[in-house]
Amino acid sequence: MAIDIDWNGVTNLLLQTVQTLQQALLHLMHGLGITHDIDGQPAWPFAARLSGEVLVIDRSVTRALAGALAYSLLALLSLAAALIWRRFRIPLLLLAIAIGALTPWPDIGLLSQPASASSFHVSPTAFSAQAINRGERVYSQFCLSCHGADGKGNTRIGLALAIAPPNLSSGLLWRRPDGDVLWSIRHGKGEMPAFAEQISVADSWALIDYMKANAAGVNIRETGLWQRPVAIPDMELNCAPSNAARIADWHGQRVRLIVAPADGAALPLEDPRFQSLLLNAGARPAAAAATDTGRIGAIQCNNAAAESLHALSIITAIADQRLAGAQLIADRDGWVRALKRPANTANTADAADAWSDEDMLCRPPSASDSKPAAGKDSAAQGLEKLIATMDAEPIRFIKGGFYH
Ligand code: HEC
Repeated sequence: MAIDIDWNGVTNLLLQTVQTLQQALLHLMHGLGITHDIDGQPAWPFAARLSGEVLVIDRSVTRALAGALAYSLLALLSLAAALIWRRFRIPLLLLAIAIGALTPWPDIGLLSQPASASSFHVSPTAFSAQAINRGERVYSQFCLSCHGADGKGNTRIGLALAIAPPNLSSGLLWRRPDGDVLWSIRHGKGEMPAFAEQISVADSWALIDYMKANAAGVNIRETGLWQRPVAIPDMELNCAPSNAARIADWHGQRVRLIVAPADGAALPLEDPRFQSLLLNAGARPAAAAATDTGRIGAIQCNNAAAESLHALSIITAIADQRLAGAQLIADRDGWVRALKRPANTANTADAADAWSDEDMLCRPPSASDSKPAAGKDSAAQGLEKLIATMDAEPIRFIKGGFYH
């Protein structure tokens, strides 16, 4: 009987284990004073680190590693049994040694990667609208000339270099640990100069957020989809009844972000399945038009900062002044999954609530392969299906290279 193994699940588990163990080791070493801080966080003291990247690309390595770990577990078990079970101590001990010696480990070279001192650094910015805006300003000052507005590096200066800049709007920023990107910015890489003297650590993290947001925008402009997961930009909330102060406080909830529609157009209906946020940067006051009677109740919180709107403009590639009426839906893990473009929102109440599969811009491959049954569903069913897909197919561990 063949055992049906969920290899994606095994890969995810191994990736997370490898990451967690290394992080624990780093914090232990830091706690013992073996390693110190660099750029505000504990420095990884080794030139290499274990990396699960190959596990995502090559299933055979995953099998080999899972096998080796299973063998090691057996060896440990028989060792434990040898300690407890005196009568069979010698044979059990020999068995443990034999299993240990015969365990076929995959080539360690495949599982290791060069590391920087900040490989394990964690971004403190939480992809906030503020950081994205800040990053954009720093980018145009220091990076634009080589990397270009679209991050592709096809600039006069970029192309004149011996090694041209990589395409920052490809998957690079999704594959590379944030900490390694931070290192490249602060300490240079190849033909790229170091910026540690000119740009603060905080601004360097902001740059990373901006580059990811911009890559998402370039992606949607070119393909109509987000091929890589995009987090909902964190932003401050102004909530009368609730205690939430930022979107991040809603982690674990589905979030619906509504850009205030132009005067006269209706807000969407109240919907208990979402935490709703109205972005009303100058568009219209929070308590809005007469058409909103019974609808404005849907909005728990609002945010009137122009930079929140601008962050959305960057990730959606819709100009700030054309965003009125747009809606974004984020899943419980904070990934933006669906976008309703303002052009689709006609001036009727129903249109603000009509969703279909086609609004789902960020979906796992299985879902995008199946043809969306457009047009047939009612508005309510469309949203129902969208929520079901979103919940049933969460976005997986992304640094491991899980595309969705
Ligand atoms: C003089 C041109 C130049 C400037 C200015 C420049 N870069 Fe680069 N950048 C490059 C080149 C060339 C590479 C490729 C380096 C390599 O892999 O050899 C690169 C690589 C990168 C990478 C990929 C790093 C990696 O880990 O592979 C990132 C991210 C990046 N640059 C961000 C920035 C940011 C942010 C700025 C502004 C603070 C900036 N760059 C300014 C030329 C430049």
